[in-house]
Amino acid sequence: MKNPVYLDYNATTPVDPEVVKEMIPYIESYYGNPSSSYSIGRSNKEAIEKARQQVAGLINCKPEEIYFTSCATESNNLAIQGIALANSKKGRHIITSAIEHPAVTEVCKYLGSQGFEITFLPVDQYGRVDPGHVKNAIRPDTILVTIMHANNEIGTIQPIHEIGVIAREKKIIFHTDASQSVGKIETDVNKLGVDLLTIAGHKLYAPKGIGALYIRKGTLIESLMHGAGQEKGIRPGTENVIHTVGLGKACEIAVRDFKQNQQNMKVSRDRLIEGLVSRLGDKVHINSNLENCLPNTLSVAFENVSAHALASVISSDVLISTGSACHSGETTISSVFQAMNLDFRTAAATVRISTGKNSTKEEIDFAIEVLINAINKLLL
Ligand SMILES: Cc1ncc(COP(=O)(O)O)c(C=O)c1O
Repeated sequence: MKNPVYLDYNATTPVDPEVVKEMIPYIESYYGNPSSSYSIGRSNKEAIEKARQQVAGLINCKPEEIYFTSCATESNNLAIQGIALANSKKGRHIITSAIEHPAVTEVCKYLGSQGFEITFLPVDQYGRVDPGHVKNAIRPDTILVTIMHANNEIGTIQPIHEIGVIAREKKIIFHTDASQSVGKIETDVNKLGVDLLTIAGHKLYAPKGIGALYIRKGTLIESLMHGAGQEKGIRPGTENVIHTVGLGKACEIAVRDFKQNQQNMKVSRDRLIEGLVSRLGDKVHINSNLENCLPNTLSVAFENVSAHALASVISSDVLISTGSACHSGETTISSVFQAMNLDFRTAAATVRISTGKNSTKEEIDFAIEVLINAINKLLL
């Protein structure tokens, strides 16, 4: 077994070898500026437009509705601040949830400090937003609803379609951060009923440093940066051709291999659950509702075992992450677990294990043995 076994695919993914192959000519040879009118410029412009089509193919939108950015954080900032700036005359109220990634929460808090009013909706014990709460929170001055598609820590999938119906009925712009869901579950913007959708390249086997934002045609948005007009002036700056080509290829592969990848992530995750539950019984507490969860994600607490100690003890063999932060001996529970009202002991004992499209049976069986050995030792 090649160590350590990586089971933290919600943190990031390796770059797919097919993606690397596609990018290499753009690193080695094709250096033209896409805005230049001579051939080495034009061919890079064409490469960007091909990538735009590939990304659009994954989320079922028009290529011209895709804008390339540097990461999901930038896409979320552009979506939320851009909508706020462009629509502030209509109103200054934004609705979001209590379990968003900081790349949404912190943007909302910033806007809160700039005269906008933010409603943070509560979630149930599995981290799910109630569409009825969205409906009740809408006011005449509401300009934006931003709710993530799937949660990074527990994998909970939000009722985006139902919320989309409400937003459309009330004519309110609807953004979803789909950083964790793209490539794992269906993310068709029309079925979801969203106006903006965030994509993160490095969660999808493309490199770090590239993201995209889907903006439905006709959505009123302002740019946060001003410059030479690339990406129709919404995200100016000379394009990152190399990484854009990589994201395009990653999206093409995600469409091509969708069923197989989804199946493998789920089979691997379920094998892990089966192995742990059959050996540890009721010492295993699964935080997610597996009926409504990303196929690759397992948020699990092992009774009386510190998540930090566990993740650290096994880190030369298996890589996983924890849902709490530990600084100078003090454990702080993540805002997601606080919003779910997860008790402190369970939260401090929770680890996140996330499988990938190429996770193998051997890796999972090895991880089960490593986890069980470490848990038994830590329980002594
Ligand atoms: C749901 C979600 N949104 C946004 C981000 C931010 O992604 P990035 O750091 O690539 O900008 C992450 C990263 O973990 C995420 O899981």
